Amino acid sequence: MSTNFQMKHLLGIRELSADQITHLLDTAESFRDVSRREIKKVPALRGRTVINLFFEPSTRTRTSFEIAAKRLSADAINISVSTSSVSKGETLLDTARNLQAMSPDCIVIRHSSAGAPYHLTRVCNAAIVNAGDGSHEHPTQALLDALTIREHKNGIAGLKVAIIGDILHSRVARSNIYLLSKLGATVRVAGPGTLVPKEFAELIEQGVRIESRIEDAVAGADVVMVLRIQRERQTDAFFPSIREYAVHYGLHLSHLNLAAPDAIVMHPGPMNRGIEISSEIADGGRSLILDQVTNGVAVRMAVLYLLAGTSDGAEKRSEDAAAADDLSDSSRSAGGVRGRSRHQKRGTRN
Ligand code: CP
Repeated sequence: MSTNFQMKHLLGIRELSADQITHLLDTAESFRDVSRREIKKVPALRGRTVINLFFEPSTRTRTSFEIAAKRLSADAINISVSTSSVSKGETLLDTARNLQAMSPDCIVIRHSSAGAPYHLTRVCNAAIVNAGDGSHEHPTQALLDALTIREHKNGIAGLKVAIIGDILHSRVARSNIYLLSKLGATVRVAGPGTLVPKEFAELIEQGVRIESRIEDAVAGADVVMVLRIQRERQTDAFFPSIREYAVHYGLHLSHLNLAAPDAIVMHPGPMNRGIEISSEIADGGRSLILDQVTNGVAVRMAVLYLLAGTSDGAEKRSEDAAAADDLSDSSRSAGGVRGRSRHQKRGTRN
């Protein structure tokens, strides 16, 4: 396995190789330790600037990118779109050009339009990170989900994963299906016929199974992933009523009893309690919903560390080693990590 990440941007999971995904997860695993220390900071991105540009609401993603940047000693700037010049009619690309003029090393963008992060790469030298673009992809969510699964299941290959809910509008479903398939899990999706898009036929060939009944998707599953009903993206009536959806596609204990005895339950948040998931499951012993949020910080630290070390991808690879040494020095002086962390042992995992 190559330990060089060799990506300038993170636009989606689809274009990543299994090795790159594994390298990101290994890097995140070593950063998880930083957040458990009393002093939650390493100097890996000292002097770097990260801009969070969110055109859609976010609690988890925006906060964890900001925390991740700060724990890496980067300067983190949050742009609130409602108080920026976007509200005066400035275009996305003009906003991006103006931000680039201030020399950020990384721009993290969430936007309601699929492809918006890609457009930024055309006018910015900074590394661009997709924090969710329309119904397209949410790569860091899939990575934090994978880190959580790996932590609790000791691996991903061979697992049976059920994804339940609004597949049509879900960037989380897309990114997770790409990631889990690349790492060798089998994926079943279930939702009302109107919320499972036709393009998923292409994914079925890669082994993704579409089920119309929640029971068939959950039977024997090791992981049950529940998705939010995205009413803000629904322009048509995809199901008769929320109550009806809750009856037929809400996850209840009776469904979970069909899964593997040690099955875990995940939800990317925000949750609609009592609609797609019952509170007894959301707050129950098998729920890893808050573990996912915790792992989001580690994953975003890894992404920023691997991408924002420099705005030049080629130069970045040679500087990675120096940044890793900084991290190693800091880890030793903070006393939190014994010896070198996993991603610092370059050349030993090939
Ligand atoms: N899972 C997720 O993207 O949550 P936020 O919308 O709160 O960022």
